[in-house]
Amino acid sequence: MQNQGPQMLEFQEKGDERGHLIVCEGGGQDIPFDIKRIFYIYGSEQGIVRGQHANRETEFVIINVAGSSKIRVRDGRGNEAVFILNRPRTGVYIPRMIWKDMYDFSEDSVLLCLASEHYKPDEYIRDYEEFLKAVREENPEE
Ligand code: TYD
Repeated sequence: MQNQGPQMLEFQEKGDERGHLIVCEGGGQDIPFDIKRIFYIYGSEQGIVRGQHANRETEFVIINVAGSSKIRVRDGRGNEAVFILNRPRTGVYIPRMIWKDMYDFSEDSVLLCLASEHYKPDEYIRDYEEFLKAVREENPEE
């Protein structure tokens, strides 16, 4: 994927003998955007696939703060990647206009999602063909 594409982020661990502590500062420090919204997903069974959408505006960082899951990302231009999330100190950065599928949730998976925008249902693209069309419209030269 291109440089600014989806990528793994590694957060600094500030643990000591009392336990672990991870800090995610927004605004370009640990998280490459100002965080406007957080939500978390848990209790999804093994066979479940979540996500299955792209966002016209929102960027995300997704962290398995407990358990594990996988996320498959596609840019609609032929590039795809699978990230395995299984450590609280790693996250995946997902820019806008990336199709994402989350799956293979462990029973104890808690998937924390940090978002750059407030929730606006209109900026979600939930149909893959519509996503491909929107990608083509943004990249008419390809
Ligand atoms: P959905 O986008 O389908 O979740 P996932 O990305 O895990 O597949 O969201 C499920 C429901 O929750 C849907 O009715 C929209 C609602 N929702 C909000 O109201 N605010 C939010 O920030 C999010 C992410 C979802």
